[in-house]
Amino acid sequence: MNNKREILVAASVYGADLSAAGEAVRLCENSGIDLLHLDVMDGHFVPDITFGNKFVSDLDKITDLPLDVHLMVNDPSKFLDSYIDAGADFLSFHIEADLHVHRTLNYIKSRGVKAGICLVPSTPVTALSEIITDIDYVQVMTVNPGFSGQKMIQSCINKIKQLDEIRNEKNLDFLIFVDGGVNPATSSILIESGTDVLITASSLFSSDNPSKTVIFKLPVNNCGQISDS
Ligand code: DX5
Ligand code: ZN
Repeated sequence: MNNKREILVAASVYGADLSAAGEAVRLCENSGIDLLHLDVMDGHFVPDITFGNKFVSDLDKITDLPLDVHLMVNDPSKFLDSYIDAGADFLSFHIEADLHVHRTLNYIKSRGVKAGICLVPSTPVTALSEIITDIDYVQVMTVNPGFSGQKMIQSCINKIKQLDEIRNEKNLDFLIFVDGGVNPATSSILIESGTDVLITASSLFSSDNPSKTVIFKLPVNNCGQISDS
């Protein structure tokens, strides 16, 4: 693992008060957030329903932050164009929800958008073996998807390490995103394990001092040394 690599922090807007979404975006911009992570839930792949492509395009009009859309939907290939047209810069879907993963990945990339694959906690890294060279990023879910505010499932950290080893061995440059239970206490081990993008909802939006929360990306130059001050 390269200790000098850049760590980014993505804010999961779903964890904000959505009646004041514009204010949440301003808070992210003023707190050093690098990406806005937008959780699209369909009520089938996961129990809840969140928002759709109009919300994404409305946010795209009010911010220059890159938009990272996380599709927690069945049959994601039906929805690619609507979210890309809405302004997604990064678009991820669940390998568990799609039959033609190779085609879906390459379609997203053909539209000039970064293509990501998400793995629920029970899906092993080996599920990626035939498509690993097609992926721009892998999003390791460290909670079962569908809700913010859950505790991280520690065993998922091993998958981050496996992915980091694979990219080093094969000399690949895909990024590793981690989603679920990310906070200043868990970020150290996630960064050490190979995470590039930390996604956070409750830790950020419940913080009295969000910019201080975002400081958890700083240990990159000194891996493992998280400062609480
Ligand atoms: C969960 C979502 C996450 C969630 C993270 O299904 O994909 O992005 O909002 O929430 P926290 O950071 O509270 O675990
Ligand atoms: Zn998410």
